[in-house]
Amino acid sequence: MAARITHTGQGVTYLFPNDQIEIERLDNQHELIKILLDNKIYLSPWSRDKTCPSKVLDVATGTGRWAVELGDEFPSTTVVGIDLSPIQPTLVPLNVSFFVQDASEDWEDGDGSFDYIHTRFTTGCWGDMFADIVVKAFASLQPNGWLECQELQDMAFSDDGSLTSDMPLSVWCRDLVEASKRSNRPLVAAAQLRDWFEAAGFVDIQEKVYKLPINGWPRDPRLKKLGEMWQVNMQNGLQAFSYGFMHRVLGKSKAEIEVSLVDVRKDITNPQIHAYNRFYVVWGRKPAVPTTASGSAVVVSSSSSRASMDTLIPAQ
Ligand SMILES: C[S@@+](CC[C@H](N)C(=O)[O-])C[C@H]1O[C@@H](n2cnc3c(N)ncnc32)[C@H](O)[C@@H]1O
Repeated sequence: MAARITHTGQGVTYLFPNDQIEIERLDNQHELIKILLDNKIYLSPWSRDKTCPSKVLDVATGTGRWAVELGDEFPSTTVVGIDLSPIQPTLVPLNVSFFVQDASEDWEDGDGSFDYIHTRFTTGCWGDMFADIVVKAFASLQPNGWLECQELQDMAFSDDGSLTSDMPLSVWCRDLVEASKRSNRPLVAAAQLRDWFEAAGFVDIQEKVYKLPINGWPRDPRLKKLGEMWQVNMQNGLQAFSYGFMHRVLGKSKAEIEVSLVDVRKDITNPQIHAYNRFYVVWGRKPAVPTTASGSAVVVSSSSSRASMDTLIPAQ
């Protein structure tokens, strides 16, 4: 697979492909995350009856599935999706539009007119997610608007020690994280989001952390299904993720990568390894009387709360 690298004036900005395999992977991932979030696509307090958003920005929208479904759910809402790649469908609801735009630069309409800004699976896209997204979103939101980030922490964990740090899957994750740091596109950002929201001036911040099993190891049927879907998703993305970071950034040869991926695949498909990824959903409101978005903002509400890690995976 040829990984596509997108360049802007500032250099390499995105190391993953946008080919047909990736498009299908993103669409399947959308369905999977919906199941993970109990058939929801957002956790911010919107409702069709009472509180519809009026203008929404989906940053790095990908194939636009999230934006289209939000537009379907809220027909009177204007939904704008931006992405570096024009991989969105052309037949979309009238209230949804897509633009090719580098979201690390200034946002069109970034004038405070949005009341909901959303990201999902965008770590690895930004040099500095705090400055590039969280602070900019604060400035681009109306008072009382919401920012919601749904992001994966790209590390694998196990609670019972069945994934150890010397296993190929752990080594692969560490290599990926190291390469992402070296190329100034850090993959590990999700766990910091809550603090960044607070530093930018958001209030009523909520964080929910889900465990996403890497294969069908859980006994619980819903988690087993999620794990099976996530396994396929990882298998389909493995080569592209690895080439993007490990070949181009760490300088590993393609043969070297292919050899190591054989063992990584074995770990991913091994039900004896009870590994999972953490998927973070963080959402917060811009206060009615905004503070500054400089990072030295005064937090005007003390009602922020951190939802504890969901106990989604029953003991085996
Ligand atoms: C992993 S995909 C996630 C897509 C979508 N948010 C979803 O959940 O399906 C990441 C997307 O970010 C886009 N992207 C990467 N860097 C970007 C940038 N600087 N500006 C806008 N989009 C970017 C890529 O083109 C890709 O479509």
